[in-house]
Amino acid sequence: MSTSSSRISGFHNLSMAERLEKVIEVAGLNPDVANHMGNTGNLTGEIADSMIENAIGTMNIPIGVATNMVVDQQDTLIPMATEESSVVAAVCNAARQCRDSGGFITSMSGSLMIAQVQLVDVPNPEFARLQILEHKADIKQICDETDPVLLKHGGGFRDVEVRVLEGSHTGTMVITHLIVDTRDAMGANAVNSMAEAVAPLIAKWTGGRTYLRILSNLADRRLARARATWTLDAIGGESVRDGILAAYEFADIDPYRAATHNKGVMNGVSAVVLATGNDTRAVEAGAHAYAAQTGRYRSLTHWEADRDGNLTGMIEIPMPVGLIGGATKSHPTARIALDIMAVKSADQLARTIAAVGLAQNFSALKALATTGIQKGHMALHAKNIAVMAGAIGTEIEAVARDLVKLGKVRVDIAEEVLSKLRG
Ligand code: MEV
Repeated sequence: MSTSSSRISGFHNLSMAERLEKVIEVAGLNPDVANHMGNTGNLTGEIADSMIENAIGTMNIPIGVATNMVVDQQDTLIPMATEESSVVAAVCNAARQCRDSGGFITSMSGSLMIAQVQLVDVPNPEFARLQILEHKADIKQICDETDPVLLKHGGGFRDVEVRVLEGSHTGTMVITHLIVDTRDAMGANAVNSMAEAVAPLIAKWTGGRTYLRILSNLADRRLARARATWTLDAIGGESVRDGILAAYEFADIDPYRAATHNKGVMNGVSAVVLATGNDTRAVEAGAHAYAAQTGRYRSLTHWEADRDGNLTGMIEIPMPVGLIGGATKSHPTARIALDIMAVKSADQLARTIAAVGLAQNFSALKALATTGIQKGHMALHAKNIAVMAGAIGTEIEAVARDLVKLGKVRVDIAEEVLSKLRG
């Protein structure tokens, strides 16, 4: 490892190629790295450079398309960007098994985002709370003036709420929530600007001091919901259903299991969020905070048996995603992903993503409750291992097949199989 300094003055002023050259020099890398990193694939260097600071290249992640999904009676192809094998297949399988029983039915609570303004140093916080609430009309005017485009599209300020919280170091805080309808935008920029515009007035009206002015990622006014029914015939009988129900209950009562269970849900959710150029971290933070809203971290999905004994699954999850702004607009692949899904609104995108999360969870629980996760996982993982062992072209499939047959998905075995194959 190089011992050179990470202090590279003027780094951000360099071109992408110059930055790369500098990094190669400072990190002591092989100069060939420039060829690899210089190929930015289907995201031009120019766009990449305009998206983040200090860009030196891009990183490709496979996009797979999950088939079989029926969402609100509409056949929908699902683009998923993920590095994890088995994630796309899981959605295809779950969707196939509930196609005949109607696929996924979805709904949305609305497209409301929350921005928070933190006020401190108010000796009479309850009094301040009412002072702020009295100015609802002024707050609405400031918020709506801050984003006239949003207003034109039917969005804008909807409500104000004020909470009084006790901090053990900072003392009493008065927290104002601006509730804003952000329509087809994810809305972070819109609501952050509104919070910054309103904050000085909150300070003036109350005599306190404002600190933070930022959206809340706990987007619980933007809940996407999806439900589906899997018949006993489709899933293979009562014992599979009961295994899935037991797996669900385990997650709902144990945070150690819930974290893994919800990670599986997010395997599906984040892959579509990423493919469509949306903010994976915003959705993930919101999902996990929502999962903990009862005071204990629980399952994001719910599973029950219906009157006929069939398995029913539900998900309700904050889904702050948009169709306009940020990478959804600037990343050409994200535009294509949205076209593949043929979604017409952020609302439809959010609902479809929730359905994907539920599908993913179904497949994980079914595998876990029956054969175990490794069988399916390893079949796909075997291809990665084959590539790691040096297999190319048709060798990849052949080596992977042998690894699965041997029940040993390991690089050393893959090397042996490959050298035998090559004679
Ligand atoms: C692996 O990425 C996801 C699972 O662990 C999810 C789960 O356990 O429910 C299989």
